[in-house]
Amino acid sequence: MNNPTTSLEFSHFPVMLNEVINLCSPYKGGTYIDCTFGGGGYSKKLLKFPETKVIALDRDKHILTIAKELKKEFPYRFYFYKKKFSEIETITDNQPIDAIVFDLGLSSIQLNNLERGFSFKSKEKLDMSMGLSSISAEEVVNNLSEQKLKSIIKVLGEEKDASRIARNIIKKRLIKKITKVDQLVEIIEKSKKKNYTNKINPSTKTFQALRIFVNKEITELIKGIINATKVLKPGGKILIVSFHSIEDKIVKYFFSNFSASRSKPSRYLPDNENNNSLFEKYKNKIITPSATEINKNFPSRSAKLRYAVRNNNTFIYPEELINKFKKYLDLESSYVSN
Ligand SMILES: C[S@@+](CC[C@H](N)C(=O)[O-])C[C@H]1O[C@@H](n2cnc3c(N)ncnc32)[C@H](O)[C@@H]1O
Repeated sequence: MNNPTTSLEFSHFPVMLNEVINLCSPYKGGTYIDCTFGGGGYSKKLLKFPETKVIALDRDKHILTIAKELKKEFPYRFYFYKKKFSEIETITDNQPIDAIVFDLGLSSIQLNNLERGFSFKSKEKLDMSMGLSSISAEEVVNNLSEQKLKSIIKVLGEEKDASRIARNIIKKRLIKKITKVDQLVEIIEKSKKKNYTNKINPSTKTFQALRIFVNKEITELIKGIINATKVLKPGGKILIVSFHSIEDKIVKYFFSNFSASRSKPSRYLPDNENNNSLFEKYKNKIITPSATEINKNFPSRSAKLRYAVRNNNTFIYPEELINKFKKYLDLESSYVSN
């Protein structure tokens, strides 16, 4: 790994590392779950504190070498599972968990590997799977109806030109199957109005939408945070670093509506049904990267860190969270080819 290109491909700059570690408070030890191991930035730092134990998860087989190295270094304090974080319950063994961390989205390791098709700079296969997903972006763009493609691009990418992009995908695929990233980039660029801002690449939002859909990221987030709350000990913390507005909306809703500070779980419920909270009073505080961090690592600029503290109440399934974001869950679960 002395080759600079290779080491860049295998590195990921952990976002808000100090902020995350301080909140985890590992100084006297504790058991932590790193739900999104990636390059292992958070896990490695937590393991520097002598009494800690870290259980890490990642759905991506490409990071197994990094996890194996860490396992060699800390055979009795580090455990890794190649699993989706929605399955967190299967790895905890009822032990008390002090903090659970989610650092959502894609790592630079994944983005920089052009063969995986996440980057619009790639000319490779349209894949976009982070691992353990049942479909690829190629299958999505070639099989789904125009209406479904439009919904995915509009809802999950928040792309205002979704209709035109979906229509042009259909037109192009009738002539030739869309298999490569650059074919899709060309369709998107031709579909976007000329006045798109130069600040973001015209393909950004469509690529975000397809990646979220392929990996069912919203479903994973909702199931992940619910199941994490279930395994967290009273007083334990759940920390989430998110990168786009849909994720942050979900996290904020969960923490504020299921904390002791909420007035009522729903305004339609009577007052006395108000004691099902899962978290202590939620301060609604967002932590963002410092200017120094953004200077060093520009992609960190859109990161938001929120955390909540589990209270003593018995876990009650937060059905209301599912109902509130059902439109995303329904969209992600619909893969019916046309
Ligand atoms: C932003 S990176 C995390 C980087 C990490 N914090 C570090 O310091 O290197 C996100 C990682 O989470 C993984 N991931 C995303 N969604 C996941 C899910 N539902 N279950 C398990 N891993 C997931 C991705 O494969 C990726 O490796």
